[in-house]
Parts: sequence; structure tokens; C-alpha cells
Amino acid sequence: MPDIKFLDYKNIPAILAINSAVQFSWPDRIIKQDLTEKSNTEIIYIGAFASTRQAPLLGYAVLGREGKSGSLMALIVSLEYRRMRIGTQLLLAVGDCAAYLNFRRLKLRVRKSNYPAIELYKSMKFKRDSIELNYYSDGEDAIIMSAGVPFIK
Ligand SMILES: CC(C)(COP(=O)(O)OP(=O)(O)OC[C@H]1O[C@@H](n2cnc3c(N)ncnc32)[C@H](O)[C@@H]1OP(=O)(O)O)[C@@H](O)C(=O)NCCC(=O)NCCS
Repeated sequence: MPDIKFLDYKNIPAILAINSAVQFSWPDRIIKQDLTEKSNTEIIYIGAFASTRQAPLLGYAVLGREGKSGSLMALIVSLEYRRMRIGTQLLLAVGDCAAYLNFRRLKLRVRKSNYPAIELYKSMKFKRDSIELNYYSDGEDAIIMSAGVPFIK
């Protein structure tokens, strides 16, 4: 089981290192801005760390707000640690935070072609709500999914 912790500006290099190996990541510029501007309390960064002394960051998730719902803005697991339930643990932590913040639902957008992520969300009982055509800058459609929080097992 990874250690789940809130992230702050000291974790920026580790987050950017994870991003550098991923094709579609949460923009480095926004991460630096979110984690250095103290005024931005609406965005929460959560990390999964190995429970060893070296404790590298294995993955991270970003929770924001979209109206009255929480919004999963990013969820990325380092390539070498995938399929080890890190994404699931991060998503559970995001669900707990969203419930704590009194959101009733957690929403997300995922690329139509992102089979691993869609399977992960389906395994956590997220349902497909709608599709946004040409949502991404390269023209790919986004599937909008949501689930009630706290998650029901
Ligand atoms: C999507 C992502 C976060 C999943 O993280 P992960 O830690 O590997 O996921 P988990 O090990 O918790 O997987 C849980 C379940 O999700 C599904 N799943 C995850 N990866 C999958 C894959 N490559 N193929 C099929 N199903 C997959 C499976 O149902 C899996 O359960 P199982 O291993 O018992 O079959 C990871 O692949 C990733 O970082 N991708 C790149 C970034 C990204 O696309 N993020 C989502 C943006 S919306």
C-alpha cells in the first residue's frame, strides 16, 4: 500500500519528473502556479509515495471544483508503477477529500481512446454522463464521467 499525502511546492520536481514520461499530462506551468500561489486553496494535490526510506513519488491526483461537484483534474501514475493499484488508491483518496469538502459528486473528463483510465473509472463505479466533441486541442473527444461521493464499494 502506498502512503497517500497532500503535496506542496516541495514536490514540484517529483511531479514534473512523472509528467516528463507521459504523453498527455497535467501542464507543468499550471502545477507550478497552483503549488506556489498560496491563494489557490481550491485545488488539492494528492500524492502516492512508496513506503520505503527513499519514498519516491509514484503518482499524483488533482482535485478541483466544477460548480457544486468535485472535478478530478489529473490522475497520473509513474509508468513503472502502473497496474499496482496506485491509481485506485489515489482515486479513493480524492473521493474522501471530495466528500470531506461536501461535494456530492466527483466528475472527470477522459480521452475517448484512454482505455486504461476508462476501465479504472468503471471499476470505481463511475458512469458515463455525456461526450464533449473535439474537447482536446488535438481534436479528440472527451467522455464525461461521474460518481457519487463517498464512493460506494
Ligand atoms: C490510468 C492510470 C492512472 C491507472 O493507474 P494504475 O495505478 O495503473 O491503475 P490500477 O492499478 O489502480 O488499476 C485498477 C483497475 O483499472 C483498470 N486498468 C488499469 N490499467 C489498465 C490497463 N492498462 N488496461 C486495462 N485495464 C486497466 C483495471 O480494471 C485495473 O484493475 P486490475 O489490475 O485488477 O485489472 C494510469 O494508467 C496512468 O497514469 N495513465 C496515464 C495518465 C492518464 O491517462 N490518466 C487519466 C487521465 S483522465
